[in-house]
Amino acid sequence: MLLSAALLLLLDRSLGTSFYLSEIHIGGEALENMGGSPILFQHLFWFLGHPEVYIVLLPALGITSEIIATNARKPIFGYRAMIGSIPRSASSASSCGVTTMFVTGMNPFLGSVFVVTTLSIAIPSAVKVFNYITTLWKGNIVMTPAMLFSIGLVATFIAGGLTGIILADSALDIPVHDTYFVVAHFHIVMGMSAIFGMFAGIYHWFPRMYGKMMNTRMGYVHFWVTFICAFGVFFPMHFIGLAGAPRRYYDYTAFLMFDNAIDLNVVVTLFAITGALARSSSSTTSSTACSAALLPCRTLGAATRWSGPAWLSMHGNWPGKDPEVYRWPYDYSKPRKAEDFVPSRTCRTRTGEGGEPRLASSLPSPTERV
Ligand code: HEM
Ligand code: HEM
Repeated sequence: MLLSAALLLLLDRSLGTSFYLSEIHIGGEALENMGGSPILFQHLFWFLGHPEVYIVLLPALGITSEIIATNARKPIFGYRAMIGSIPRSASSASSCGVTTMFVTGMNPFLGSVFVVTTLSIAIPSAVKVFNYITTLWKGNIVMTPAMLFSIGLVATFIAGGLTGIILADSALDIPVHDTYFVVAHFHIVMGMSAIFGMFAGIYHWFPRMYGKMMNTRMGYVHFWVTFICAFGVFFPMHFIGLAGAPRRYYDYTAFLMFDNAIDLNVVVTLFAITGALARSSSSTTSSTACSAALLPCRTLGAATRWSGPAWLSMHGNWPGKDPEVYRWPYDYSKPRKAEDFVPSRTCRTRTGEGGEPRLASSLPSPTERV
């Protein structure tokens, strides 16, 4: 879609076609182009653009699922529902592009159809959030920096999802469209949740990738300063938006009605600068070399399929032959088991030790595992 939009734009600009240009007057002179529609560009753009914003979060959600399961010492709750919610998000996402365009003069009936398709995306999002919370419930939680960033993702995903529901309702969206309320909404999900997922992944797998431990204390400082500052930046933006301040304005000082927003903008700026300092301090975080035995992923019995000190020798996941696996990789906190985690390469069946290795795809499912 984006490619088609760009091609039509190219034709308009270079070959004198009129896909997007319509009755434009410049200096009193009408352009030759007639009959096109600039709204068509918006339609094509958002047909790609709005689905994309949900898809952009999926890697961070995958990382978070792994880290929360590992650090709560429980398999992710509702494993199948979690997997199912991914295609569900994708299909709802692909039908909600027009939601950003309620104010373009579209037929209100059409608008209400897109209200329904966009609100339906809240369902798979809610499934994920409830499953994360239920995984944490009564878990044996280890608060590593990676876990804090993952829980931070869940918190911001809820905060941004709630304002998403407001924006998805055309009656509520029309007054706040193109204001800072929208900027606040999407930064909380795209600017915070997605970035938190990325940081969580770095903290969790850094030792695995580089054979070095990151400084945990600096990790905590990094998380808390980032978390507080991110809300300090993006929470006040909701109020700036509700006061009517439009997005994409270079300067508001010429408009007296936005004077109230100036103080809030100063607060936002101060938090943004402090948050940026926290990030730079984290990038200078010291790290110390560690042996395979010290690796937190291994000592915590993470369900990682990587085996051996991969960072030393090679680019792939396994040195040499693929390992034989006997069980699925999330056997944490099994009742009546002394150890807290049974690795997937441990062979143990109801009939005692022994048993044939199986292909991962034929392993017992979460509900029927041994
Ligand atoms: C329950 C889930 C969500 C719902 C119902 C929702 C709904 C909406 C709606 C209706 C708009 C258009 C507002 C307007 O222009 O007036 C919007 C804007 C936006 N949303 Fe969400 N959203 C949700 C979650 C997310 C997520 C998870 C992300 C990204 C990770 C995201 C990123 C964005 C972005 C980037 C925009 C603004 C695009 C722009 O105009 O520049 N949203 N959202
Ligand atoms: C501390 C970090 C950040 C700050 C202070 C910040 C601030 C802003 C502000 C003030 C705007 C509105 C500009 C305007 O409408 O005039 C904006 C727009 C935007 N930001 Fe951020 N941002 C940050 C991080 C991010 C991140 C991490 C992402 C994406 C992952 C992001 C994506 C966007 C997008 C898509 C827009 C909309 C651009 C447009 O209107 O065309 N921002 N940002």
